[in-house]
Amino acid sequence: MYTVDILTLFPDAVMAMMGESILKRASQKGIIDIRAHQIREYTTNKQNQVDDYPYGGGMGCVMACQPLGDCLESVKRAREGRIRTIYLSPCGKRFDEADARRLSREYDGIILVCGHYEGVDQRFIDECVDEEISLGDFVLTGGEIPAMAVADSVLRLVPGVLSDPECYENESHWDGLLEYPQYTRPEEWRGRRVPEVLLKGDHTEVERWRRGQMLARTKLRRPDMFALLALSETDKKLLKKAENEAEIAELGAFSCRETVESDIPAVLGILESAREYLRAHGVDQWQSGYPDESSVRADMARGESYVVLAGDRTAAVFRLMKTPDPNYASIKDGRWSDDLAYYTIHASAVASFARGCGVADRLIGYAAEMCEKDGIRRLRADTHRKNKPMQALLTRCGFRYRGNVLVEAGDGHDPKRLAFEKRI
Ligand SMILES: C[S@@+](CC[C@H](N)C(=O)[O-])C[C@H]1O[C@@H](n2cnc3c(N)ncnc32)[C@H](O)[C@@H]1O
Repeated sequence: MYTVDILTLFPDAVMAMMGESILKRASQKGIIDIRAHQIREYTTNKQNQVDDYPYGGGMGCVMACQPLGDCLESVKRAREGRIRTIYLSPCGKRFDEADARRLSREYDGIILVCGHYEGVDQRFIDECVDEEISLGDFVLTGGEIPAMAVADSVLRLVPGVLSDPECYENESHWDGLLEYPQYTRPEEWRGRRVPEVLLKGDHTEVERWRRGQMLARTKLRRPDMFALLALSETDKKLLKKAENEAEIAELGAFSCRETVESDIPAVLGILESAREYLRAHGVDQWQSGYPDESSVRADMARGESYVVLAGDRTAAVFRLMKTPDPNYASIKDGRWSDDLAYYTIHASAVASFARGCGVADRLIGYAAEMCEKDGIRRLRADTHRKNKPMQALLTRCGFRYRGNVLVEAGDGHDPKRLAFEKRI
């Protein structure tokens, strides 16, 4: 059993808080024992006085050694095992989760001494106290709130108090990180939606998202903690993704519209960076120049070029070809599902600032919505066999591989493409 004794001038107030909820249940099960002791009961003077004027003058009163010392002795006599005596003080070491862990593991109990007024006589501290703990760099009127905070944080780590160690092992400060954001029902409240990843039921993705959020939050809110972390390569990627998501969320809601003249510089920038990305990843796609300004302008003239916006920033671009693609007339190693009219996604690219944030999935969603609006039941796309991210995206968004097609790829470039189709 882990014991907590709180020496205070306000035992009822302390027990009102410490005798509730999780701690109450743990006490009833005999896992912990919490008691608050009235210091005043140990005074030997007639007035039951616990404090006196400070030597040397000054404001307020100081709690005297005698009642504190006698109260502490009496409490210690009633306890066994390794007991740590702590004085709550703004002059103490700032308390943190590591202290909570240490106190819960290395001792069988703690005695928490609450000061009041101007504090307590230094001789009591020197003689009887093992350590001084501060709750933070501010001054409270008494030690009761810090004592309850310390007791609560220590007790929840005592085995059996919480149902499972997992309850505290993933929480803020356990591993030098702040916790990820938490959500519960409903899925939407005042226009604010729960992040999609938490609704899809993919446990691995949820874990990856949460890790990214923890890293990003810690970096933003607690650079001091972040500086102490040794990030793995996976951590770095998850952090970048979370930061991109945060940046995009700041920009505002997503939308999709036809490309207009003023979009062209941003669109060309996105296409160029996608071309570089493909080249860097050994994908021989778009390396002969297409898509470029003239192809984008031609798509615009046909009403087939679209941009995805995050707020008013261009996050992605694509062509939705609304006439049959001649390259799809012949398909090898498979076949299209039927001869129904279809639209085709071409020349799609996501801006580097928006990569890994679900923008590509939205792009497909917008294309599918346009098909639906026009009564088109099939959406097609093709990609290079080495373009694994695109293949993963298409599969994730409900496309099925249908066979191989040949496209105009330019001299010396690989014209073979994997063809995909989605039923709308
Ligand atoms: C008004 S304070 C005394 C402050 C003291 N004169 C000083 O300047 O350091 C009264 C009591 O509140 C408690 N207390 C106040 N601020 C605290 C903090 N940040 N952490 C822990 N205990 C605190 C201590 O027990 C203290 O004896």
